[in-house]
Amino acid sequence: EEEWKLPPHPKIPKGKKVTIIILDGWGENIPDRFNAIAVAETPAMDHLKTTAPERWRLLKAHGPAVGLPSEEDMGNSEVGHNALGAGRIFKQGAALVDTALSSGSIYAGEGFKYVKEALPDGTLHLIGLLSDGGVHSRYDQLKALLKGCIEQGFKRIRVHVLTDGRDVPDGSSYQFVEMLEKDLEELRKQYGVDVQIASGGGRMAVTMDRYENDWDVVKRGWDAQVLGEAPHQFNDCLEALKKLKEEDPNVNDQYYPPFVIVDDKGKPVGPIQDGDAVVTFNFRADRMLMVAQAFDNEKNFDKFDRVHFPKVKYAGMLQYDADLNLPQHYLVSPPQIDRTSGEYLVHNGIKTFVCSETVKFGHVTFIWNGNRSGQFSETLEKYVEIPSDQGISFNEKPKMKSKEIAETACEALLSGEWDQVRVNLPNGDMVGHTGDLDATVIGCSVADKCVQQMLDATEKVGGIFLITSDHGNAEDMVKRDPKTGQPLKDKNGNYQILTSHTCSPVPIAIGGPGLPKGVRFRKDLPNAGLANVAATFINFHGFESPKDYEPTLIEVVD
Ligand code: 3PG
Ligand code: CO
Repeated sequence: EEEWKLPPHPKIPKGKKVTIIILDGWGENIPDRFNAIAVAETPAMDHLKTTAPERWRLLKAHGPAVGLPSEEDMGNSEVGHNALGAGRIFKQGAALVDTALSSGSIYAGEGFKYVKEALPDGTLHLIGLLSDGGVHSRYDQLKALLKGCIEQGFKRIRVHVLTDGRDVPDGSSYQFVEMLEKDLEELRKQYGVDVQIASGGGRMAVTMDRYENDWDVVKRGWDAQVLGEAPHQFNDCLEALKKLKEEDPNVNDQYYPPFVIVDDKGKPVGPIQDGDAVVTFNFRADRMLMVAQAFDNEKNFDKFDRVHFPKVKYAGMLQYDADLNLPQHYLVSPPQIDRTSGEYLVHNGIKTFVCSETVKFGHVTFIWNGNRSGQFSETLEKYVEIPSDQGISFNEKPKMKSKEIAETACEALLSGEWDQVRVNLPNGDMVGHTGDLDATVIGCSVADKCVQQMLDATEKVGGIFLITSDHGNAEDMVKRDPKTGQPLKDKNGNYQILTSHTCSPVPIAIGGPGLPKGVRFRKDLPNAGLANVAATFINFHGFESPKDYEPTLIEVVD
């Protein structure tokens, strides 16, 4: 217990209420018409930027600053909230898998040995997101894994693809499937193996739901991948993508319905059967936790009727939740994110209230706490989830549940019961991912109103606020020429829409009546990133931060 105790801060008193707002997907960028935040009405955020320059700055939210392999890697909510909550930079899944693949250690571990128990006869099934987004998975890793698995003895492999269009431009799935088909052909020629695509579907419709928003999504994947059943059947994956789009022009990469690849006789080429092995090759946790349960949990699973539960050797690319031991088998160990800010605050008696809506709820709880399920303390923490709208694309309802989140947070603040009130406002990110510029503008305006509401409540309780983001998204809705920054058009003269996150820095603003007058951002941390935020809000609670945390962003001048 002693080692958890934090020394008091020499200049910031204890006992102030601290409001933490994460504006998901809210970066800083040139204010042109593709910057949805600049176009939106954002008086609250504008005011903070222009009136308190010593309490407003930018933070790095991409690349190595959040544990990603390279400067080219855009930020994402997993690495962003990990850094925010843990106060340190951990090498993240993408980087850990790169290392395990290039050294070959991935094939020497317990996880792959378990997968190999399906040999000599079992088929290996690889299920995951097909793109080079680098958020949940990466194509080059899948390619290396295919080759490695063949060299390890698998002669029959089936790939179950989930098309992206969210971390990469919509429409690019066609090229990724083309690339995969070409690489599979290469492998067939080189090794004489039987490797094929067996099923497919869009990531938002099939398999990759998160935080139990909609189990139907996972069921659709199960039906196609395991049972070989789907509303659509094709002989070839490229044909599937083409035809499905012709049939319904509203279909996009994110929302392709599930389909199964069948042979000339109409028989599915790769349902998952007893004796097979299954690997979900995404490294990121949130959207793999549900499917991992379906494969890992033979007896106690009641989320949907699996009809048939094949006896397979299942492993995740990573372990997606270490506390739940889920999945039990995995190819690469996840980052060991320990001693997060939430755990410290609990040990120091701080009471925390957290709220978001379903689609981002786990971001400010599970991911914030280092990919750890549940609370550190039942009595000192309360996590409130507002149910998200289901089965819609959020450009249809860009306000999402922000108002409800803000109201719940204000109530918690005004109740006086909580020392920290933390929320994630999802609009910039979730609407930004639809690529719908007008809807994203509305979403950002709404989020800003919610910020104002929470600032007012913070004012009333004499508290301190800290507003920041986890990564960029809404501030850039178009693909740009990397050299000139000019928006790019496609062959037909249309602007190329950007649905993904960005490499933009994100703003952080602090203030409130509870913040001592002399507090301002230090000038000696020009390269600070999201990992510097935890030490900062620990200070706001009146404590020095743990010694090995990234340094605080603030200084107190007399
Ligand atoms: C998603 O999973 O929705 C996107 O790939 C990344 O978005 P997030 O990192 O903001 O959750
Ligand atoms: Co996002």
